[in-house]
Amino acid sequence: MTEQTVKLTTPGGDFKYPLLPGSVGPDVIDIRNLYGQTGEFTYDPGFTSTAACQSAITYIDGDQGILLHRGYPIDQLAEQSSFMEVAFLLLHGDLPKKKELDEFTYTISRHTMVHEQLATFYRGFRRDAHPMAIMCGVVGALSSFYHDSTDITDPNQRLIASHRLIAKMPTLAAMAYKYSIGQPFLFPQNDLSYTGNFLKMTFGVPAEPYVVNPVIENALDKIFILHADHEQNASTSTVRLAGSSGANPFACIAAGIACLWGPAHGGANEAALNMLREIGDVKNIPAYIARAKDKDDPFRLMGFGHRVYKNFDPRAKVMKATADAVLKELGKTDPVLDVAKELEHIALNDAYFIDKKLYPNVDFYSGVILNAIGFPTEMFTALFALARTVGWVAQWNEMISDPEQKIGRPRQLYVGATQRDYTPVGKR
Ligand code: CMC
Repeated sequence: MTEQTVKLTTPGGDFKYPLLPGSVGPDVIDIRNLYGQTGEFTYDPGFTSTAACQSAITYIDGDQGILLHRGYPIDQLAEQSSFMEVAFLLLHGDLPKKKELDEFTYTISRHTMVHEQLATFYRGFRRDAHPMAIMCGVVGALSSFYHDSTDITDPNQRLIASHRLIAKMPTLAAMAYKYSIGQPFLFPQNDLSYTGNFLKMTFGVPAEPYVVNPVIENALDKIFILHADHEQNASTSTVRLAGSSGANPFACIAAGIACLWGPAHGGANEAALNMLREIGDVKNIPAYIARAKDKDDPFRLMGFGHRVYKNFDPRAKVMKATADAVLKELGKTDPVLDVAKELEHIALNDAYFIDKKLYPNVDFYSGVILNAIGFPTEMFTALFALARTVGWVAQWNEMISDPEQKIGRPRQLYVGATQRDYTPVGKR
């Protein structure tokens, strides 16, 4: 096949750039030689048209509402798979055979404990510290405990670091919760599933046995699957950028956690539930819709809209069904779910939201489920971080093993002062 090229006409002449095909999805124009040849940069704030890497992990078609992990549709994975299986898939590229899955699950369960010294870190935080503040700190601090898995040039050390991060995130997140309510930390219990163990460490107490509810375990496992990876989003790109300098994996994941915290990204699940609570009653919805449409009001419907999905978010569909199942199992009715459903209905029939292609995203219903299970709102984004760690480490590993990998170094359109001479303070 002859190589396709794209012609670019610049003030300095015409140049040709290769058009690289992906296995599916848009081709990319390879502009790596652009600056060298033309002396010009491209300008793309927010990277809306820029592919910063090659990746074989996750594919999204935002117009069709398609999300594939290593080729498998997210709804099939959410319905038929388990979080451990998806973790293996993201890390290694194929679904595990039974023996591989058993070995992987065993390995992860053997890394769930954290160094006792790490527990003392928690005491340095205020009791009302946001769990994401704690997670930024303690995950970064893991770098100081596991020196034997920070040589990023060694694939085996990279794998051990990945296992450690996946395994320890539930322990660290549960500890953040326990610290906030003044209860003792619970050790992991390795004969429970990844998700069952997390539920126990979060909601169990040493004074009595904890029985995992399989419906809740299943729902939470599904939530973890739905959050496991999402292509080159802000936090994943942050992990890649941090990792591109050769930083150790624990520090890189801490950087990803910091980025995820923002309300435009992972923090939206917390913000969405707070918004639904604030709306409080179906009768108040029109006023909030009006605010969301008002150009002079910074208010946005949290849990609505997505940079990539312009049709629907396939994760939101599964999430909505899961919300119904969890509330039924718990025998709960939640006025917040009624508000959510009605808000979705009204917004999806409103010209503003239709024209701007704004649909509920993954965070719209996840908060309702997590709230019903008993997680306080502040924990929502920490749960997102726990699940996304799998995607982060898979993407980080892919980047480190990519021969085309370079330190990330965006350029800029400089619009500041041109060169001028320094004037001493008395003469200004
Ligand atoms: N409510 C009201 N208007 C909105 C909303 C919203 N939630 N989202 C976008 N718009 C409007 C926006 O005002 C803009 O209008 P105009 O063209 O008149 O200026 C237009 O839609 C396009 O918005 P944008 O901000 O340019 O789009 P973006 O691709 O940069 O932003 C987004 C995507 C997710 C940041 C944004 O939709 C948003 O802030 N949503 C609420 C926060 C949220 O739910 N985030 C979770 C995303 S999914 C999980 C994750 O990635 O972590």
